[in-house]
Amino acid sequence: MSSKLFTPGKIGSMELGNRLIRSATQDPFGQKDGTVAPEQIEIHADLAKSGVPLIISAYAYVSPEGRATNIQVGFCDEAHYESQKKIVEAVHENGGKIVLQLHHAGINTFIKKNEFPMAPSGDMEAPNGSTSREMTIEDMDHICGAYVKAATKAKEIGFDGIQLHGAHGYLFNQFMDPNFNKREDEFGGNAENRFRFPKRVAQAVMDAVGADYPVLVKINSNCAGDANEKYGEDLLYFCREYEKLGITAIELSGYNFIAMGKKEAHNYYIERAKKLKSELNIPIIFVGGVRTQEDIQEVMDADIDFIALSRPFICEPNLVEVFKANEASKCLSCSKCFILWEREGRRCVTHEKPNA
Ligand SMILES: Cc1cc2nc3c(=O)[nH]c(=O)nc-3n(C[C@H](O)[C@H](O)[C@H](O)COP(=O)(O)O)c2cc1C
Repeated sequence: MSSKLFTPGKIGSMELGNRLIRSATQDPFGQKDGTVAPEQIEIHADLAKSGVPLIISAYAYVSPEGRATNIQVGFCDEAHYESQKKIVEAVHENGGKIVLQLHHAGINTFIKKNEFPMAPSGDMEAPNGSTSREMTIEDMDHICGAYVKAATKAKEIGFDGIQLHGAHGYLFNQFMDPNFNKREDEFGGNAENRFRFPKRVAQAVMDAVGADYPVLVKINSNCAGDANEKYGEDLLYFCREYEKLGITAIELSGYNFIAMGKKEAHNYYIERAKKLKSELNIPIIFVGGVRTQEDIQEVMDADIDFIALSRPFICEPNLVEVFKANEASKCLSCSKCFILWEREGRRCVTHEKPNA
């Protein structure tokens, strides 16, 4: 077992008993109105009870047009705040900490009635079957305001911090990724321009919640196609800018974040994570394909600060114990939990019973 994994660590003001984090994970229980269901309170309480010191909540939309799926929870009205507060209380009662992941889907809304989803660039094919509408400055103001309101409320109701979801093809990422962002104004083109909108939102949020409140970000370490090599340099720029702003920690993911069907793949983004770690001082959270003790060792040997996991916590809710016993997770990264999310329970479908 890596000697560092079970040592305490800090993310801003959050003191954490070990280096494990539950990465943001949507589950199938979110209700049509975006409120939290009793099953979700139970999932989070159990995770905290199991000894995972920090849970990053499922992504929550900050504005209705930015909702990704019909089961996504929201964080933009009183009913949402009241229901999310129950998760906060359940986690705190069980000795854990919880960060709320804030999100806007941009073009990647699957909600049919949102006919022309807004996105950095127009006329792009959208998953809901229509095409995107290019965002105006007013749209940007609206979304920035929605993030500020959500972050302020998250702090007020007791979340230990927030995470801005800047990965996985959603709005922030659409601005940063040249495959999505074809703008010709000051929000498109070079890395500085493509980062302008995410930076503006991050700055506004941080001004609103104050310097001591943890504001984390999740970012893609790569992008699809030929642009990927250049994106590696841009990534360093984005992360340096986040560091300069005073962001509390960066979680490093990627566009192919569940390496669907590639069960043999491990530690997907380790090379770019090592590079970032050598260039930055901000805490780095590594996510993607950590399963074995060797995987853990590789991340910790690179001096990366924290390890976040998603599917292994679905497969084995007692994962902390598993790693403490120097064992590997049984999760095969089959990703059936991801594919079946709207049709079946968000339990592991390969190992029918949790921990079997
Ligand atoms: C069922 C499921 C739901 C997910 N929901 C979210 C989410 O709400 N927000 C997010 O940033 N990532 C989400 N992810 C991605 C994970 O946080 C993580 O980045 C990815 O699964 C790789 O980690 P793993 O190999 O430990 O599963 C989800 C993944 C799965 C499998």
